[in-house]
Amino acid sequence: MKLVLLGPPGVGKGTQAQLLSAWLKVPVISTGDMLRAAVAAGTELGQAAQWHMNSGQLVPDQMMVDLVKARIEAQDCQVGFILDGFPRTVQQAIALSELGVGVECVLALKLSDAVIVRRLSGRWVHPASGRVYHTMHHPPQRDLLDDVTGEPLVQREDDCAETVQARLEVYHQQTEPLLSYYSNATEGPLCHQVSAQGDAEEVHAQLKALLHAQS
Ligand code: AP5
Repeated sequence: MKLVLLGPPGVGKGTQAQLLSAWLKVPVISTGDMLRAAVAAGTELGQAAQWHMNSGQLVPDQMMVDLVKARIEAQDCQVGFILDGFPRTVQQAIALSELGVGVECVLALKLSDAVIVRRLSGRWVHPASGRVYHTMHHPPQRDLLDDVTGEPLVQREDDCAETVQARLEVYHQQTEPLLSYYSNATEGPLCHQVSAQGDAEEVHAQLKALLHAQS
């Protein structure tokens, strides 16, 4: 199964990608996690991406296409994959289609900006693993410590209120047009729009039902 998870920042793409990955036994390709790893390692890509990420802007298309292309060609992706955070522009979607990897389904998560702001302001992450928590909806067992390693959790730099607003604006301007792009396409993946309002297990159950119905 080759899937795309689409949606605004903080809608729960990463959370759902992990649940679907465990169910479908295919890897998650999270472009955000890949970029954060590149920034932490101080690579050329990381240095070029850092300003865009910290200001809530998108990293240039060609850099993202090159990054995803190399990852999709890896052996573990031959059984399938879940793309979390790519494509994010129509140009990226066209490039993905031109790679000819045969994405079967786009799952587009929808949520109001007000709920998104609450989800992002309560998010804490374990940087080394990418595990994600929420102070109310998915708290760690011990305050601000990762459940598995016991290491401290941190808040992402781009989760500050000002940058969240910038990310939402960028989403509405540059990524939302992908909903019509995929919904109006006469060929290519099927696009399903799903409310992400319920808790994570409820949203996961909706996505599984859609994928069952499609297979
Ligand atoms: P990226 O890391 O992809 O950020 P994002 O798309 O803004 O998404 P988030 O990771 O913030 O949120 P999410 O939807 O995964 O939500 P989560 O599951 O964590 O990208 C970061 C930056 O990298 C971009 O701004 C850009 O600069 C760059 N970039 C990345 N890809 C790019 C691309 N293709 N092109 C160009 N630039 C790119 O959940 C959020 C919180 O809510 C958590 O606390 C979670 O526990 C909680 N939660 C989740 N689901 C629920 C639920 N159902 N109910 C209650 N709480 C929930």
